[in-house]
Amino acid sequence: MSSEKLNTKLVSAGRKKEYCHGSVNSVIQRASSIVFDSVEQKKLATKQRGERGLFYGRRGTLTHFAFQDAMTELEGGAGCVLYPCGAAAIANSMLSFVKSGDHVLMTGGAYEPTQGFCNTILADMGISTTYYDPMRGADVATLMTPNTSVVFLEVPNSITMEVPNIPAIVNAVRAVNADVVIMIDNTWAAGVLFNAFEHDIDISIQAGTKYIVGHSDAMIGTAVANSRCWERLRERSYLMGQMVDADTAYMASRGLRTLGIRLKQHHESSTAVAAWLSERPEVARVNHPALPEAIGHENYLRDFSGSCGLFSFVLNKKLTDEQIAEYLDNFTHFSMAYSWGGYESLILANQPEELNAIRPAGPVDFEGTLVRVHIGLEDIDDLIADLQAGFERIA
Ligand SMILES: Cc1ncc(COP(=O)(O)O)c(C=O)c1O
Repeated sequence: MSSEKLNTKLVSAGRKKEYCHGSVNSVIQRASSIVFDSVEQKKLATKQRGERGLFYGRRGTLTHFAFQDAMTELEGGAGCVLYPCGAAAIANSMLSFVKSGDHVLMTGGAYEPTQGFCNTILADMGISTTYYDPMRGADVATLMTPNTSVVFLEVPNSITMEVPNIPAIVNAVRAVNADVVIMIDNTWAAGVLFNAFEHDIDISIQAGTKYIVGHSDAMIGTAVANSRCWERLRERSYLMGQMVDADTAYMASRGLRTLGIRLKQHHESSTAVAAWLSERPEVARVNHPALPEAIGHENYLRDFSGSCGLFSFVLNKKLTDEQIAEYLDNFTHFSMAYSWGGYESLILANQPEELNAIRPAGPVDFEGTLVRVHIGLEDIDDLIADLQAGFERIA
């Protein structure tokens, strides 16, 4: 992780004088109505409404512009659209680039609600989805059809954490159809540990709810687009009413300032805990992209500048329901929650059959219970002691 450059950028991104009015942080400008002083000014605002001009609350205020500028600068695209949560960012990004009769090529490792969106809303609109096994690499492009308009990546795979060969997939897809829109759910890398635009991806989507906000107390989605896709994404998302309130945009800007040092700690702690787990007799496999034994580790090393706190491990046996309850109900420092990316440690378990139900491109290759952890900012000795006690409960 190139921490010096990244941390410097994270501190300064988006903090223009015009957004801060003399304070360190951007002002919180809560507004629906934007008042114009003259007909001339109203005309100008109307003309500039897509490009940071104050126009109407739904187009954003100084607080939104500060965060959007920061995200654009950090990820390196042409502009950033804000959404009320990550799921909205995913759905609206896709809706902005598909029409009835189109085909979407979706990773079989996608976050479950992303699949749900394709299977219900896109299907009802006459848009078909093919799920691909992302570990097939360049071969994925053979699944494209003449009407494929969107190819969607999520790296690493949700829950099982394999890291696909992104350049191989992107290059093969572009060779079949250079104009197809390639999107990535870039939440695991927080948009900064993997650079989507250097990899010829058109739209980098994040659940800012996770690491950007970083404190498990607000929800926001972001989609940064390259110049080819920016205007269409912006205008179509606007027409679908996508916006977030100024207070949440402010919370997201504030989260950015510590994102680098938080990620550095999440990386250090999660790799240390993962290494400890990989030595345990109860564990069949640790799915942490930074560990040499992880599937796709070589892709991680080449394409990512670090990892975050989220990974999983497979136990060498399948727990009964009673054992799962005994195991999960009694942790001291790990709470059970569906989210991740905050300062706190979290834990969940999945049986292989539950994972197979959300693996439309093929079943998982293990039989033990999978445990997903988010390693927070606690001291790792305490986390390891907690995990050790967990193993004793299921011995
Ligand atoms: C990888 C990934 N993408 C998107 C989302 C959706 O984000 P949100 O909960 O903000 O809608 C999540 C939420 O858990 C996620 O894990």
